[in-house]
Amino acid sequence: MAATDLERFSNAEPEPRSLSLGGHVGFDSLPDQLVSKSVTQGFSFNILCVGETGIGKSTLMNTLFNTTFETEEASHHEECVCLRPQTYDLQESNVQLKLTIVDAVGFGDQINKDERPIVDYIDAQFENYLQEELKIRRSLFDYHDTRIHVCLYFITPTGHSLKSLDLVTMKKLDSKVNIIPIIAKADTISKSELHKFKIKIMGELVSNGVQIYQFPTDDEAVAEINAVMNAHLPFAVVGSTEEVKVGNKLVRARQYPWGVVQVENENHCDFVKLREMLIRVNMEDLREQTHSRHYELYRRCKLEEMGFQDSDGDSQPFSLQETYEAKRKEFLSELQRKEEEMRQMFVNKVKETELELKEKERELHEKFEHLKRVHQEEKRKVEEKRRELEEETNAFNRRKAAVEALQSQALHTTSQQPLRKDKDKKKASGWSSIYSVTIP
Ligand code: GTP
Ligand code: MG
Repeated sequence: MAATDLERFSNAEPEPRSLSLGGHVGFDSLPDQLVSKSVTQGFSFNILCVGETGIGKSTLMNTLFNTTFETEEASHHEECVCLRPQTYDLQESNVQLKLTIVDAVGFGDQINKDERPIVDYIDAQFENYLQEELKIRRSLFDYHDTRIHVCLYFITPTGHSLKSLDLVTMKKLDSKVNIIPIIAKADTISKSELHKFKIKIMGELVSNGVQIYQFPTDDEAVAEINAVMNAHLPFAVVGSTEEVKVGNKLVRARQYPWGVVQVENENHCDFVKLREMLIRVNMEDLREQTHSRHYELYRRCKLEEMGFQDSDGDSQPFSLQETYEAKRKEFLSELQRKEEEMRQMFVNKVKETELELKEKERELHEKFEHLKRVHQEEKRKVEEKRRELEEETNAFNRRKAAVEALQSQALHTTSQQPLRKDKDKKKASGWSSIYSVTIP
């Protein structure tokens, strides 16, 4: 047999054969084992609340879980949208639930209305999970899964239409999280307006290609109720932490001068529908969709980005070793290319600096030559002046010596002829006239 035939033979899946059992074996208790294991392990559920400040997020969470979570009121002056998670341990019967409520504080208040922090937060939770999965020693069993299972998007009850911020945000989030849109403070809008508002919202979501979470209809047990509830979206809800006496019962309600809005009355609002769909019927589907759809998409994109693929171009099965080698080679050649680029850059820089230095040197040399010429010219002029001055000094000295010789001769003559005064006076005046003539 050829090697390829052998390979084909060993890769072929054997057809399973049905056999009947001779008696009770016990593996029909597998679902019970699963339930028991899950109950022991506990569950986690993470809700992201997106809606403008004061829209009623905290009140609705308190109403939904029938408790009081510690929350701080947000101010309208937050500098940016910040995601604030709070985790609580809840217990109902023997089931433990680790509930995380994440508040998008400051959403809709900024001038620069950016949904990026919300997207980044959701991605960061996926990344944490992926990192745990990729660890050599991973502990997914007791890992606190913080991936967002549902985003409750609170729509302002304007009765008009969705804001562009709502559409942009939901569009950015719809491939990352299950979105359930809800009309908040539904008691502030009339019944007929509410009906039109719901139709308008759904129309806008469809025309803008926003994918909201659809309650699943593939499980027979819940298909009917889920299909009916899908038609009621978006749910119009009212939240309240107050209890009011209606008849002889205390109920959660909002009391107004003209009447009482009962939170759990389906004629007043869709709160019960939301609670049923979110918690009682579809909580597990939301968790599963998060893992199998949204996280899977994130994981696939991330691994592809890292160079992993299921099969290479020739449909050969994926080999981790080969991918690693290929990635390593790619990285090394990139490193080499970068190194070469940097070396070339350095050489060019050195050349440029060398040229600049040479130019500077030439300029300096020229300057020096010019100064030298100027200096020589000056020196020559000074030399000439010095010579002229010397000549003048010599001439002066000669004349001075001649005058002194004449003077001494004259004095000598005067001392020999003291009586000839008149004649001498004339002579003296004659000398002085000589003086005045000869001395400049
Ligand atoms: P921040 O966390 O500060 O952004 O506010 P929030 O969105 O958590 O709103 P919160 O629940 O604190 O409610 C703000 C105000 O709205 C409170 O006075 C609530 O009583 C009121 N409120 C909450 N839910 C409803 C509702 O369904 N209808 C009406 N009419 N008022 C509501
Ligand atoms: Mg709040």
